[in-house]
Amino acid sequence: MSGRFADRNVLITGAGSGIGRATALLFAQEGARLVVVDQNEADAQKTAALIRDAGGEAFAIGADVSRDADCRAMVERAVAAYGRLHVAFNNAGIGASGFALADEEEVTWDRLIDVNLKGVFLSMKHEIVAMLAAGGGVIVNTASAAGLVGERGIGIYTASKHGVVGLTKTTALDYIGQNIRINAVCPGATRTPMLAAWFQDPKVESFIMSRHPIGRIGEPEEIGRAVLFLASDDASFIVGQALAVDGGLTAQ
Ligand SMILES: NC(=O)c1ccc[n+]([C@@H]2O[C@H](COP(=O)([O-])OP(=O)(O)OC[C@H]3O[C@@H](n4cnc5c(N)ncnc54)[C@H](O)[C@@H]3O)[C@@H](O)[C@H]2O)c1
Repeated sequence: MSGRFADRNVLITGAGSGIGRATALLFAQEGARLVVVDQNEADAQKTAALIRDAGGEAFAIGADVSRDADCRAMVERAVAAYGRLHVAFNNAGIGASGFALADEEEVTWDRLIDVNLKGVFLSMKHEIVAMLAAGGGVIVNTASAAGLVGERGIGIYTASKHGVVGLTKTTALDYIGQNIRINAVCPGATRTPMLAAWFQDPKVESFIMSRHPIGRIGEPEEIGRAVLFLASDDASFIVGQALAVDGGLTAQ
């Protein structure tokens, strides 16, 4: 297949839904072979089927990115199937609870940090081992606009995403000398099932809309196109950055 990612093997976590699924479809349209990872294996299978139906190549893996053994296995299966890993998009994440900090529970902290931050650590750890063995690669992590600025009412989520930005910068510095280029994408509010849960409350919807100077929320493909750019050779000099794709949210 032709395209910017022809003959490149791309692993995406959280690819059973929202931003991950949209980005998987965009990579496939540009010639990539996909490894579609999600905790919800049925949703991952659906994404892989959508890619194959459109003439692309993909297979699905059920994995929980907060578990080391799952992250190791997803990378090993990707390498066993395709020979090597060129690109990884570590995107799996869970949303905020919406409580003020004093009303939060320890269990919420543990799960949000486990998935959103430890999940990126464990994913990168195993991806980097595979990429080093193959001479290099590219990684994009999903942080958030809430990884760049404080957002009221979502303190634990904000902490997890600031952590992703810090981990991205430092890991990028550690590995750029070995030809592994790492960046993060920081979406503003984006139309996905995660956000739909929040929009059940119309007051929350109008508040979130009002925070975005562009006057609307983003579409998952708008995040995906930024991910493809960061993963492509067009971004060859971009290292350790946290790219806001947020309709102006963090420019205020
Ligand atoms: N939608 C937004 O407004 C928005 C804004 C900023 C950042 N983000 C981030 O974008 C990423 C994707 O979110 P989305 O909006 O597409 O949400 P989504 O809920 O549509 O998709 C997230 C996917 O991740 C999977 N997942 C959750 N926990 C997992 C785990 N432990 N292991 C493997 N897979 C897991 C889910 O099953 C789901 O398929 C997340 O990291 C989220 O924090 C989203």
